[in-house]
Amino acid sequence: MSEKLVIYDSVFSNTAQVAKAIGEALGDVPFKKVDEVTREDLQGLSILLVGSPTRAFNPTPAIKDYLKSLGSDALKGVKAAAFDTRIPKDKTDSGFLKFMINIFGYADKKIEKQLAKAGANICIESTGFGVSGTEGPLYEGELERAKDWAKEILG
Ligand SMILES: Cc1cc2nc3c(=O)[nH]c(=O)nc-3n(C[C@H](O)[C@H](O)[C@H](O)COP(=O)(O)O)c2cc1C
Repeated sequence: MSEKLVIYDSVFSNTAQVAKAIGEALGDVPFKKVDEVTREDLQGLSILLVGSPTRAFNPTPAIKDYLKSLGSDALKGVKAAAFDTRIPKDKTDSGFLKFMINIFGYADKKIEKQLAKAGANICIESTGFGVSGTEGPLYEGELERAKDWAKEILG
């Protein structure tokens, strides 16, 4: 059991890399793929970060289903924040994708909403980290930005 935890999902490993960087930045905090998380992992938890690749403007079904399975008080008293990986709007040439992103957004806000629904106290604004194509890699500097972002949760 740890007081802090990073939960993530990842298909091509980019979100896993972000989760690992965040875990390290917070001081050896475990980062667990969503299908490996147990009920015990949430016991005594004070800080939780949850991240997913953005797929069809949403978190993966595994992340969605996991957060949905938590009761409405499951994260009461837990400080939480959400992140995703994504194709940044300003990095795509597709006008159609830009249009769709404007309407449907990214996974981060949806995760944030589900965390709040489970009773968590959202304490830093969610964000996303850019990948340069469907399979990545992450844009340069994104892992450093992830570390800085995550550390805000400590203050
Ligand atoms: C089926 C599919 C749907 C995707 N939909 C989106 C999307 O709606 N918005 C977006 O920014 N990126 C989208 N992407 C790109 C993913 O965000 C990218 O593959 C992901 O960030 C990589 O993270 P991972 O390596 O952890 O899987 C999509 C990729 C796939 C394969």
